[in-house]
Amino acid sequence: MQNTLFTSDNLTILTGLATESIDLIYIDPPFNSNRLYSGKIDSKASGSTFNDTWIWSVETETDLEAILKINPSLATFIESIQTSNSKSMMSYCTFMTQRIIEMHRILKDTGSLYLHCDPTASHYLKIILDYVFGKVNFKNEIVWSYNWGGRPKDCWSKKHDIILMYAKNKNKMFFDSTCVRIPYKTQIEGRKNPLIDEEKFNSGQIPTDVWDIPIIHAMSKERTGYPTQKPLALLDRIIKASCPLGGVVLDAFCGSATTLISANQLKRYWIGIDIEHKSLKLLIDRLKMYSSDSVNDFIHRTEVPQRTDLSLITLDVKAAVFKAIKDNLSKYIKTLDLNENKSIIELGADEISSIELSMDFQNMFGVSINESSIESLTLIKLVHYINNELMEKACRKSLC
Ligand SMILES: C[S@@+](CC[C@H](N)C(=O)[O-])C[C@H]1O[C@@H](n2cnc3c(N)ncnc32)[C@H](O)[C@@H]1O
Repeated sequence: MQNTLFTSDNLTILTGLATESIDLIYIDPPFNSNRLYSGKIDSKASGSTFNDTWIWSVETETDLEAILKINPSLATFIESIQTSNSKSMMSYCTFMTQRIIEMHRILKDTGSLYLHCDPTASHYLKIILDYVFGKVNFKNEIVWSYNWGGRPKDCWSKKHDIILMYAKNKNKMFFDSTCVRIPYKTQIEGRKNPLIDEEKFNSGQIPTDVWDIPIIHAMSKERTGYPTQKPLALLDRIIKASCPLGGVVLDAFCGSATTLISANQLKRYWIGIDIEHKSLKLLIDRLKMYSSDSVNDFIHRTEVPQRTDLSLITLDVKAAVFKAIKDNLSKYIKTLDLNENKSIIELGADEISSIELSMDFQNMFGVSINESSIESLTLIKLVHYINNELMEKACRKSLC
């Protein structure tokens, strides 16, 4: 595994990453703040920008149609957002959903996702995550509390972000909060609680889901001038607790490379993606500062990677498809003739409204068919669907 920074749109890169290959995903995407962000002039981040404004367009309409095909109820929910909020929020949620679907696919069974957001869209994102990850896999709504900036008089001042944490599979998730103990409050205040024994007191306590971590101070040497840079302490806590040593951390909106620097220092492999080329310079500057021996120890790429888990398909697409059909759907098939030029599948029933595909089958081919789409497919349509999906993937792969 080679540490890698991709500078490109993350959706295309994510589609090229292998299924179940990542231990931990942290993302800090745009929040739909309706702002244009720019790096501080005369700082390391000078020249970097990203636009956090969203409009509904022909492209987003096509994107929502694609979601409709694989998860109709989720698409219906996204469509409803124009009524409860706005078309702009609907566009933002369409963008996020496409990426969340891919991130769910590439997470290992033991993996988890931390999605950093704020109250502007956190309620919509949580519902989207419930659809994609399953509400049973929701683990925490972490409140990152910071004390910075002015205090308006017209309402309570907003001093927190939200980090939504989901497991790929709640029963298998890797998690070790004992390695991120924090001092007891009394330690900070210089007094010792007599009810806590010495050893326990000295080893500190396990954090709750409310995290008091200071933002990066204006004079801090950690500061790059990048407008939405997150503190290393925040990422250190997430990575230590949720990624095993030697595991792989992915940040698909990596900005000034905070996640990558933290993962690097904590001896985890990392993959960063950012649409801005400026991220490369920021990463190099920060590696020089924190671990200069790692500066040449990563690769920078812009092209879509080749999915390593789909190699079986290119070997013999047709035979692989039919083998899978035979293995999985044999009870419905009367005749199956695997001939180079004519392929005959004679079905045992004309209309089969519900077919269960084993997880192995889906994993083997990277074809994701959710329950509702299976219900609406007849067997013959399903065969075509699988065929088209595999052909399309094989073509994409051979073009790479
Ligand atoms: C809030 S910032 C991330 C800040 C980062 N956590 C840090 O500590 O510096 C969001 C980042 O997402 C990137 N971004 C926005 N849309 C993207 C896309 N479609 N693909 C990849 N990156 C994108 C922006 O360029 C920006 O750097």
